[in-house]
Amino acid sequence: MQNCPSIIVLDKNQNSREIVNSYLTEFGFGDNVLLFDDYKAGLEEVKKLNGDAIVIMDISEKGKEIQETAENLKLCTSKIIITSTNYSTNTIIKALRMGAKEFLPKPVLKDDLLRVVTKLSNLNAADAGSESKIITVYSNKGGIGKTTIAINLASELAKVTKDKVALVDLNLQLGDVSTFLNLNPAFDVNYVIHKLTDKNEEMLLKAFEKYKNTSMYVLADPSYIEQSESITPQQITTLFSALKKVFPYIVVDMSSNIDPNALKILDSSDWILFTTIVNIPAIRNCQRCLNLFRSRRYPMNKVKIIINRYMENDEIKIEDIENTLDEKVYWKIPNNYFTIMEAINKGVSIAEINPDSNIGNNFRDFASKVSDDIIEQSVIQYRI
Ligand SMILES: Nc1ncnc2c1ncn2[C@@H]1O[C@H](COP(=O)(O)OP(=O)(O)OP(=O)(O)O)[C@@H](O)[C@H]1O
Ligand SMILES: [Mg+2]
Repeated sequence: MQNCPSIIVLDKNQNSREIVNSYLTEFGFGDNVLLFDDYKAGLEEVKKLNGDAIVIMDISEKGKEIQETAENLKLCTSKIIITSTNYSTNTIIKALRMGAKEFLPKPVLKDDLLRVVTKLSNLNAADAGSESKIITVYSNKGGIGKTTIAINLASELAKVTKDKVALVDLNLQLGDVSTFLNLNPAFDVNYVIHKLTDKNEEMLLKAFEKYKNTSMYVLADPSYIEQSESITPQQITTLFSALKKVFPYIVVDMSSNIDPNALKILDSSDWILFTTIVNIPAIRNCQRCLNLFRSRRYPMNKVKIIINRYMENDEIKIEDIENTLDEKVYWKIPNNYFTIMEAINKGVSIAEINPDSNIGNNFRDFASKVSDDIIEQSVIQYRI
């Protein structure tokens, strides 16, 4: 078969390896199939193929080897098919967490295998990013905590998911992300939009600043205020579609303005973490902005209300806010000025200052909830 991708099969069970191999041979993929019962050796082969391989990995057995392979695998290829003799919802969630694009119950059926292998082999880069999520932290009021939330959510998401997480500063005139993280990046959004003609994975990853030893990659705001004026909504769309091919999660920080670029960012986002604090003027503003979101007919569940600087004994209760906004609160982040200020002053994430503080724990749980809810949305398709 021409243009046939390499297919790496990782399976401890010889019989199932041989069955899968015989089906693949029948479909015409035979020359490009490699079978492994040693997952580490299989992973090394995938690495050599530089993101071009389809991997069929069995997770029926439990064990560290499978978990470790999965964590590395999803950094090498986005074309992962997971198989298992157990097909409970929990196993499907586990498979999706491991980066599976497709899940097949065992014994694998010939038609199912043909369908998913054909789908993944025809998957072009644009489709490969279709499950990538843009999560934008927004408030139509300044100083509410957008940057603090974007940074700490992105860094915890990288830890929880072990996936590549982009943190993109689209506060085009007054971005703070690189200051908050004490970074001095060589490139910025303006460079990627205007100068990077070939926005392929390798070039994009070079333009981002990898944050320490994590899988969070930071793209800073433009170096000069006037550069923001030359950025158009169309260019933001192009930027997002390039990023979606590389990063499963894209966390966006932005300004509180509502202008054409801001609307483009909000329209393009899969989730808007719409942030407020608990006081009357902030909630009034929130109401006005929710009306705007409603008028733009955003799908249900796209806008999640986040309460920042939450204090249990506040006079205004969460139920009051929910009643006023006619929306449920998705998450509450506690007030902890000193830990946050120490993180900002030292130019690090909150977890690097005090992971066990109320706010450190809160961001870890927040990231777990976000990733669980995103995965749960995907599981629905396997359950209908
Ligand atoms: N949960 C919190 N508890 C205490 N202080 C907080 C909390 N979240 C944010 N802050 C403080 O609020 C201030 C503003 O935060 P931040 O810069 O993240 O807001 P912003 O919405 O990004 O602002 P801007 O609109 O200027 O971009 C910072 O000094 C930060 O320390
Ligand atoms: Mg900010």
